Amino acid sequence: MLNEVILISGVSRGLGLALAKQLAQPQRLIVGIARSNNSELAAYCQAQNASYQFIQADLALPQGCAHATHELQQLLKAHPDARSFWLINNAGTVAPMAQSHQLDDPHLIALALQLNVGSLISLSATFLAHTPATADRRILNISSGAGRNAVPGWGVYGATKSAVDHFTQTLALEQPQVRTVALAPGVIDTDMQTHIRQTETDFFPNRERFIQLHQNQQLASAEFTAEHIARYLANDTFGTKTVDDIRHYF
Ligand SMILES: NC(=O)c1ccc[n+]([C@@H]2O[C@H](COP(=O)([O-])OP(=O)(O)OC[C@H]3O[C@@H](n4cnc5c(N)ncnc54)[C@H](OP(=O)(O)O)[C@@H]3O)[C@@H](O)[C@H]2O)c1
Repeated sequence: MLNEVILISGVSRGLGLALAKQLAQPQRLIVGIARSNNSELAAYCQAQNASYQFIQADLALPQGCAHATHELQQLLKAHPDARSFWLINNAGTVAPMAQSHQLDDPHLIALALQLNVGSLISLSATFLAHTPATADRRILNISSGAGRNAVPGWGVYGATKSAVDHFTQTLALEQPQVRTVALAPGVIDTDMQTHIRQTETDFFPNRERFIQLHQNQQLASAEFTAEHIARYLANDTFGTKTVDDIRHYF
């Protein structure tokens, strides 16, 4: 008997992968979305007696997002009796990292807006329309401190995460019966941080600070962060604070 359906975007690596592993339990269906499948995750879920399904989609493209929402609809229709449905909008990009006068590629800007904001809105809309109102429904949007405090070089990234916070607050007002949170996850040792450290100072003036954080082992591991987020998500108080930061609970 399948009781719980958990949808996670950006499941192939980093925080999304660690969250999927943390949440893989018997009687749960984990539905992962990303461009690349992670066969290790499928095997891990099987070993935990959790079900796993993967939707391959490029969420930075409107047509990829439409494909993902279509697949999601079919999948949700197949599990009308589950007692809980949780959506974790985690997929994201920090690109393009550049200061305002250097943001000369509209295509990269559009991809970031579509992935970080557009896909999150579309997946949330599909989730709301195709899950039973009587179920325990939760939406966790992975935001960032960059959306709350401006950082040079992160104009696009910060704007998208600020939009995530705003959309989350709107959704929470419109759907008070759905527990909804925009959560900053802290600084985590993932590919995203590697990309940040590799970006030239001219484009990202704070680069040295992130190199120092890494050298001083001050980045949280994805597993550590996922463990805290999983506990936070499952807690009865989830949704009482719409815009939050997991570091308050370390
Ligand atoms: N790492 C940090 O320090 C940090 C700090 C604050 C907030 N965050 C937020 O935490 C979330 C996860 O970040 P992370 O550090 O785990 O990043 P990551 O290591 O770069 O992983 C990103 C995940 O998103 C997926 N993804 C990227 N582009 C995609 C696309 N076009 N379509 C579908 N999926 C896509 C990737 O899978 P594929 O490549 O297989 O598609 C991957 O699974 C993001 O929302 C990020 O903004 C991270």
